[in-house]
Amino acid sequence: MTVTRSADPGRPRVEGPLKLTGAARYAADHRPDSVLHAVLVGAPVAAGRLRGLDAAAARILPGVTAVLTAADLPSFPELPPPAAVRVMPFSDDRILFEGQPVAIVLGESIEAAEAGRAAVVVDCEREAPVLLGHGRREPAMGDEVVFARGDVDAALADAVLADGGIRIEQTYLQAPRHHHAMETSGTVARWDGDRLTLWDAVQASSTVIPVVSTAFGVDAADVHVVARHTGGGFGAKGYIWPHEILAAAAARVIGRPVKLHLRRSDQFSNVGYQPWMEQTIRLAAGADGVLTGLEHEVVNNTALADTHVEPATEASKSLYAVPALRLRQLIERVSLNVPTPMRAPVEGPGLWALESAMNELADAAGLDPLDVRLANFAEVSPADGRPWSVNGLREAYEEGARRYGWRTRHQRPRRDGPWVIGHGMATCTMGSFRFPGAGRVRLRRDGAVVEANVHDIGTGVQTVLSQIAAEELGIPPERVETRWGDTDLPRTGPTYGSSTTMGTGSAVAAAARDVTKQLAELGQGGRDPFEALDRAGLDELVGEGTFALPGGAQFNQDGAGTPYAIRTWGVIFVEVGVDPDFGLLRLRRAVGVYSAGRIVNPVTARAQMTGGIIWGWGKATMEESDQDPVHGRWLAKNLSNVAVPVNADIPADLDVSFTDEYDEAASLIGARGVGELGATGVDAAVAAAVHDAVGVRVRDLPILPWKVLAG
Ligand code: MOS
Repeated sequence: MTVTRSADPGRPRVEGPLKLTGAARYAADHRPDSVLHAVLVGAPVAAGRLRGLDAAAARILPGVTAVLTAADLPSFPELPPPAAVRVMPFSDDRILFEGQPVAIVLGESIEAAEAGRAAVVVDCEREAPVLLGHGRREPAMGDEVVFARGDVDAALADAVLADGGIRIEQTYLQAPRHHHAMETSGTVARWDGDRLTLWDAVQASSTVIPVVSTAFGVDAADVHVVARHTGGGFGAKGYIWPHEILAAAAARVIGRPVKLHLRRSDQFSNVGYQPWMEQTIRLAAGADGVLTGLEHEVVNNTALADTHVEPATEASKSLYAVPALRLRQLIERVSLNVPTPMRAPVEGPGLWALESAMNELADAAGLDPLDVRLANFAEVSPADGRPWSVNGLREAYEEGARRYGWRTRHQRPRRDGPWVIGHGMATCTMGSFRFPGAGRVRLRRDGAVVEANVHDIGTGVQTVLSQIAAEELGIPPERVETRWGDTDLPRTGPTYGSSTTMGTGSAVAAAARDVTKQLAELGQGGRDPFEALDRAGLDELVGEGTFALPGGAQFNQDGAGTPYAIRTWGVIFVEVGVDPDFGLLRLRRAVGVYSAGRIVNPVTARAQMTGGIIWGWGKATMEESDQDPVHGRWLAKNLSNVAVPVNADIPADLDVSFTDEYDEAASLIGARGVGELGATGVDAAVAAAVHDAVGVRVRDLPILPWKVLAG
């Protein structure tokens, strides 16, 4: 096997200098003439009714232009997906979570608006909030069993009776956590008559248009969204949130442009977070560790009115060959805002439970955790028996174990000063989310231009698209410029779900091939494209390309409806130091090997995986958003209370590599997805390493020092 070494050269990010010099313009950097600054006034209680609101003192403050309440705002229809909420705030007097908007203060400066906010008196009738773990549980989608095959109950019963049979039943918890991108979510809205322009901090501006046009009853063609540099998203900017519509509503009411950028404290309640989750895994296996049955039950919290389902059972549906399988999805309604996908959604939470249980199975069977995975390797898709498009997981296991020194790990010293050293591993996997999209390539005398409405959330997409066009045209990537982040450009899929390089990359490759084809039709084939353009006497030649899905679908998961099942895989090995006196944890090194199709740019792909591993360490050991047990609100209101990994937490020794692949079933350019894969499996590997070090099994994320000591 060839492995793309992490030291391989790749093209550095073209947008790097813009960001480092402050030239990159984010949503809030747009200041249309006469713009007003908006600040939301949130409900002070987590449950109850809005009785009254006194804004008289706020309205007379200098610089306060207006205080808008429900009476001032238009009534909104129910919002279609991908709006995160169905019913807009201000629709009635019920308070369903703390921070729910009840007024909007508009000021000539942000300081004036903030002062106005502090002067608004909100009078609420308080009710007892519904706390996490105490809400009403209901099936997530009609029936709580979302998938069943074979007889799981018989497999579980037989495992108890059989000689050496193994049965594992454990419940795994994870705390809610917020995305907290450096750039909070926010929107600048300007109306020109019935035409609306939004400068928006989003991951999918094309999907803003149908929601916003429905909200205001305007023509979709009259809504224009600009979203160039986005300061991180991680899923919180994936769907459409009320503040985007409220910014536009306020601008319409007041007749001036409005900038509504969420304050950090509002970010807790006015966009989503990853839900609290309780997952139960039941495994049945023979003495050889081969699975005979698997049940995976998932409960995630959602809001009282709005529903987010975290389909974490997908992990168990798609990873191991197991004859009997039953998957259950439930939701629990509590007095919090609605959660949303967060890097890595779906399999991220799912693997925390499944891979933890697989590590427990290995211990129960007296087998190496790697051998248990190999014993249950799925040669075809366990969900439906289709062959894999490309599956490099076996090579990834082998290469990862080699690079880590996995098979000889316990021959190394078990202590380093106060640190007791443990080793853990887990499989990584993500589904393949494909969206249709378009791209354009303009060949000009002075260079080529790629046009596609992708977003730059920090992934380096401009660099990758320019590389793809350059490679297809046979010109240096330095001669390709990228235009992105504007709904006037060719429509692409959203910038989430690890889908952009695969989908838009293919559309751009097709557009570049269209340019080459046109040059050939002009009798200029086989030449340097600039020379060919010159000889054809043209100043510009425009190529168009699309990435289409089977049946013209708007979304395709795991290659549904095609002969091949498409997914991504990997393996993560971690070495963790545990201080048994204080319960402290240190990540000492990690090795990740990933099977994700062709890697277009090793620099940006490696950065995605490195970031994912760091993100996973944060989930495993630090991140937790608590609901106050008395008031029902989020306990934290700023980042000073939020623990996330910093440089000092992360060793230099993060070894990331990729199996060498070209997946033509997944995309025209051979790529699958990388963005979220690296964040999967890390938590389960860390928990296994802690157990390996000190014999304490923590099944409740994050693994805080007190949990290690309590064990
Ligand atoms: Mo990622 S949760 O798909 O932005």
